[in-house]
Amino acid sequence: MYAEKVLSGMRPTGRLHLGHYHGVLANWIKLQHEYPCLFFVADWHALTTNYDEPGTITQNAMDMVIDWLAAGVDPSQATIFIQSKVPEHAELHLLLSMMTPLGWLERVPTYKDQQEKLTHKDLTTYGFLGYPLLQAADILIYRADKVPVGEDQVPHIEFTREIARRFNHLYGKEPGYEEKARESVKKLGSKRARRYEELRNRYQEKGEDDALEQAKELLNDAQNLSHGDRERLFGYLEGGGKMILVEPGALLTHASRMPGLDGQKMSKSYGNTIALREDADTITKKIRTMQTDPQRVRRTDPGDPEKCPVWEFHQIYSNDEVKSWVQEGCRSAGIGCIECKQPVIDGVLKEQEPMRERARMYEEDPLLVKNIVADGCERARKLAQETMRDVREAIGLDYS
Ligand code: TRP
Ligand code: SF4
Repeated sequence: MYAEKVLSGMRPTGRLHLGHYHGVLANWIKLQHEYPCLFFVADWHALTTNYDEPGTITQNAMDMVIDWLAAGVDPSQATIFIQSKVPEHAELHLLLSMMTPLGWLERVPTYKDQQEKLTHKDLTTYGFLGYPLLQAADILIYRADKVPVGEDQVPHIEFTREIARRFNHLYGKEPGYEEKARESVKKLGSKRARRYEELRNRYQEKGEDDALEQAKELLNDAQNLSHGDRERLFGYLEGGGKMILVEPGALLTHASRMPGLDGQKMSKSYGNTIALREDADTITKKIRTMQTDPQRVRRTDPGDPEKCPVWEFHQIYSNDEVKSWVQEGCRSAGIGCIECKQPVIDGVLKEQEPMRERARMYEEDPLLVKNIVADGCERARKLAQETMRDVREAIGLDYS
């Protein structure tokens, strides 16, 4: 049976923290047992916004890969590689750029959002506009079926699907297919035929799903159509030719409930993180001094766990028994905050123990990491080259 493939990438932002672990990595680690997985460092994507910070990418990429391995991404199960080491991504990006309408890129929500957010940087660049198209190339070049991403990335997957559909529509036709399909369209009668063409165009060119539904209804209602004609017209609606590129689906990763030390979302830019493989003393100190319910000023004041980020940590790290101890002790002022934090400290340290153990091995022997990455790049490249052969042939760029 054909095994569905999973692919995902992360921009190399440097050392990862608990938010990344509970939000993304834990999910990758689960998926690697269920599917063939490809995980890569999106270093070109980092350049779309950090083009003016040369020299930071390699170190960030290597640190990030060590964090993946430390967290439990297993190179014997998953293929780990670096985007820029598989230059076929760039070739596919270029070829796709020929048939990508500007308007599609301009209306991807992250385009305007990020430009407005990162005001200190000029993001009116060619590369930044093309960010989602490069991402589409990353996905399509492996014919990935499932892409685990957070909610903010769902529009990029949707965009990728539209690109795949457009590519297959333009380049995936078998000889004679169009003529046969057009003959079948005529059999609908002129009024229905015109309506069918209009809906088909709206679906294929603008990706309007309701146009597809309406066209299917129209075909179901067309009484005097033979079975063969009907099937052909169903196929013709969705491209109908050869599927050269595969439309992927998003595998939505649930937003991590991991708060930062101050109760805001854990993020490097807020300075409220606990890093993966941070040393035990620092972790202990950070949690001991982290924010609690602001109303609980004195030890004798009762508190409310719902207003305390420590409680959110308990929900991740503590069992039911400890959780009811917190609820009761906090509300009755029966326990102090330092006391309350101890099980969380223990939980985080315990979680990180095997990570620190694994990381030590890789930190001591950087060659080990290099070899894992080199091996992954080689495997990824083989897959990418297979797709590119088909892509070039479909477009008519094969000089062999
Ligand atoms: N844009 C993604 C992010 O910021 C990173 C990424 C690049 C990616 N290419 C990808 C994710 C392909 C999934 C698949 O998180
Ligand atoms: Fe927060 Fe625990 Fe202190 Fe209550 S006792 S305020 S839950 S740290």
